[in-house]
Amino acid sequence: MKIAELFRVEGLGVVVTGGASGLGLAFAEALAENGARVTILDVDGKAVASETRRLGALGYEVRGEVVDVRDHAALDRAFDAALAAFGRLDVVFANAGVDSGPGYMASWAGAGRARNPDGALEHYTDERWNRVIDVNLNGIFATARAAARIMKPQRSGRLIMTTSVAAFQCEPAIGSAYMAAKAGATHFMHCVAQELAAYNITVNAIAPGFFVTNIGGGHAKNPATQEAMAKVIPMHRVGFPDDIKGLALFLASPASAYLTGQQISIDGGWILGAVD
Ligand SMILES: NC(=O)c1ccc[n+]([C@@H]2O[C@H](COP(=O)([O-])OP(=O)(O)OC[C@H]3O[C@@H](n4cnc5c(N)ncnc54)[C@H](O)[C@@H]3O)[C@@H](O)[C@H]2O)c1
Repeated sequence: MKIAELFRVEGLGVVVTGGASGLGLAFAEALAENGARVTILDVDGKAVASETRRLGALGYEVRGEVVDVRDHAALDRAFDAALAAFGRLDVVFANAGVDSGPGYMASWAGAGRARNPDGALEHYTDERWNRVIDVNLNGIFATARAAARIMKPQRSGRLIMTTSVAAFQCEPAIGSAYMAAKAGATHFMHCVAQELAAYNITVNAIAPGFFVTNIGGGHAKNPATQEAMAKVIPMHRVGFPDDIKGLALFLASPASAYLTGQQISIDGGWILGAVD
């Protein structure tokens, strides 16, 4: 098989939740740059407008809609609209996510980190907990369900969820609801993969490490944070959205046709532990 055929996504109908920024935008770009027809769903109306305009001006087939993944009925309607607009739905990235506010440690990496009382369990509010579970776990459920409604009858599809290395590694700089939501999303992915395999629908997860995006107000753009993280990542650098495009193309294309129920970490070796 030729590489060009193996990774061909031309003409595919794609939906990306949280597609107007960061990793979701990278997924949308990776697919659109290779001829797929992409619908971006995102709660940030300004970013939806500017990114669809920018990608459209580059000659890509990209449309956008303002949708909050917490509004499950609106999500269903947006999937119907995406199918109607492009005539098919082949690939869905369930990606929208938020950070969970501060954790019990005050900084991201390094020895001598101070504790942060605001992020301590006894001060963790219901609002903080519920917001993260609502977007990062319930939103993934609702997105997967919206996709399955369309993909199951057609007996084909690719569902790719953005989880995190936080699904299996505790990160004390971010609130614990984030770890709980991501771990839940990972195991939900396993269950959905098993359920939908007979319908030729593959379900996998991308577990990013530390990427520079707008999450949490763009805290990862801080050079001091990047420097501290680079010291604990074996590849000695943080990740950028372009680093994730190859994996997105792999999981969306025929190259991964027989791969399902898997979570692939992409983290520069972070979870292996620092060596030098
Ligand atoms: N950046 C990282 O280091 C990192 C690491 C692991 C996992 N992730 C995960 O990657 C995914 C994307 O995050 P990112 O880092 O690109 O952040 P980002 O903030 O740059 O992008 C997230 C996008 O999701 C949208 N969004 C937020 N809540 C939404 C909602 N309720 N409905 C619809 N859209 C919503 C935002 O408007 C934004 O455009 C998230 O699931 C996040 O948890 C990120």
